[in-house]
Amino acid sequence: MASYDVIVIGSGPGGYVCAIRCAQLGLKTACVEGRETLGGTCLNVGCIPSKALLHATEMLHETEENFGKMGINVAKPKVDWTQMLAYKGETIDANTKGIEFLFKKNKIDWLKGWGSIPEPGKVKVGDEVHDAKNIVIATGSEASSLPGIDVDEKQVVTSTGALELDDIPKKMVVIGAGVIGLELGSVYNRLGTEVTVVEFLDAITPGMDAEVQKTFQRILKKQGLKFVMGAAVQGVTTTKTKAKVAYKLRKDDSDHVLEADTVLVATGRRPHTDGLGLDALGVEMTERGQVKTDAHWKTSVAGIYAIGDAITGPMLAHKAEDEGMAVAETIAGQAGHVNYDVIPGVIYTHPEVATVGQTEEQLKEAGRAYKVGKFSFMGNGRAKANHAADGFVKILADKDTDRILGAHIIGPMAGDLIHEVCVAMEFGAAAEDLARTCHAHPTYSEAVREAALACGDGPIHS
Ligand code: FAD
Ligand code: NAI
Repeated sequence: MASYDVIVIGSGPGGYVCAIRCAQLGLKTACVEGRETLGGTCLNVGCIPSKALLHATEMLHETEENFGKMGINVAKPKVDWTQMLAYKGETIDANTKGIEFLFKKNKIDWLKGWGSIPEPGKVKVGDEVHDAKNIVIATGSEASSLPGIDVDEKQVVTSTGALELDDIPKKMVVIGAGVIGLELGSVYNRLGTEVTVVEFLDAITPGMDAEVQKTFQRILKKQGLKFVMGAAVQGVTTTKTKAKVAYKLRKDDSDHVLEADTVLVATGRRPHTDGLGLDALGVEMTERGQVKTDAHWKTSVAGIYAIGDAITGPMLAHKAEDEGMAVAETIAGQAGHVNYDVIPGVIYTHPEVATVGQTEEQLKEAGRAYKVGKFSFMGNGRAKANHAADGFVKILADKDTDRILGAHIIGPMAGDLIHEVCVAMEFGAAAEDLARTCHAHPTYSEAVREAALACGDGPIHS
């Protein structure tokens, strides 16, 4: 048994970042993790492995589609699935071991096992009970399924199973056209799987700017993904080799069935708080099973905080990280802060999709006067040279003050380009500020500047 200033439960991006920041601020810190490796969902079965497979299959796609066009003639590439999974595994290892190294460097104790909170100020791990002046719940989330669907992580999988299938399936049905469905659907589509995405709503990636949604779906269709929209999945049945997905089309209530080797259920995630003992402690929860917190990540019980996927807000690694930093600073008596208006969201497909701030639909609903500056990558020299000119940058700015309210990008390196706008928004910049900033030529970033110019007198290259 030991005594700590802070015990963080969970070592995902929220938890490990919080622990490191606490240690940097001079607090004696431990982090409890029940998995065999640190890094949470993100490093073990989320962001990192999915990006490794996205990268590998994007290279495959690039080789097949564009090498010949540039005068590089190679034989048709062959996929070695075992090696691709090994590469994914090495990527995970390198990252999780990196966190272990950072824990040692910052003198953070890793309490191995599943933690619970028997009473305020105490954390139980295995048979040991440790004292903690402050406890941070960073226990993350887990995949949720639908009624009538039994996940076995072999034939009927969540993202976790989809990241380590024994073989590349011939046919896959993806339930849900959200981020996971489209990223992992893209991976298998590029590997030659016939992928059909079944979505309840009439548009993909709910909540995203409608113009981006349309362009994104058009591009994905061109790449070979099939979509069944407005379809309510009723259930999945399996035989030894096949799975059947039954769905009802919402427009006419008609019944349909799709057959596949593998079904990926990607209909959202739910907070993971089982076994912590929160009920007995009287920690208030939201209707959706998230830990309720105030603006300083305090729960309803003194000395217990919560961050990341376990609380409200977007389920994103960087949102969890920012909360981890901020809660550490709050505990240390500083003014921890997260600007929830400027949290980017990125989908790592090809092309990438990136978004920050408000969408046109949200601005319309709020009755806000705004202007739109849009620029197509067709007018960007670098994108044209690189066969990556599909997509656009769209910047939304206040009609009167020109202050940037949001940006939506679909195109090459969108996930990196978005941060220029994030920084601008953090500084309360006007579109003209971006437009007057010199951008190196030839870069994709010039498309951001052109979109900013389009909020004023107009872009140069369109
Ligand atoms: P988690 O990362 O879920 O970590 C929580 C940890 O707590 C887990 O390791 C768990 O074992 C541990 N834990 C739980 N209960 C206990 C307990 N009682 N005792 C001890 N340990 C416990 N987000 C992005 O921003 N970018 C992406 O590209 C991205 N890709 C994703 C791809 C996939 C396939 C998935 C599933 C998610 C992806 N996400 C991505 C979302 C991202 O992974 C999460 O938002 C992020 O991991 C949340 O961090 P967290 O620290 O709140 O929780
Ligand atoms: P999601 O919420 O993004 O998408 C779920 C989709 O399933 C929605 O489009 C929804 O309408 C649909 N759906 C729900 N019920 C359905 C039904 N019965 N039939 C058909 N469709 C149905 O959830 P997803 O993709 O599972 O991702 C979970 C979380 O993980 C997200 O919140 C996301 O933030 C995070 N994540 C982030 C990534 C990134 O930042 N690049 C990558 C992967 C995950």
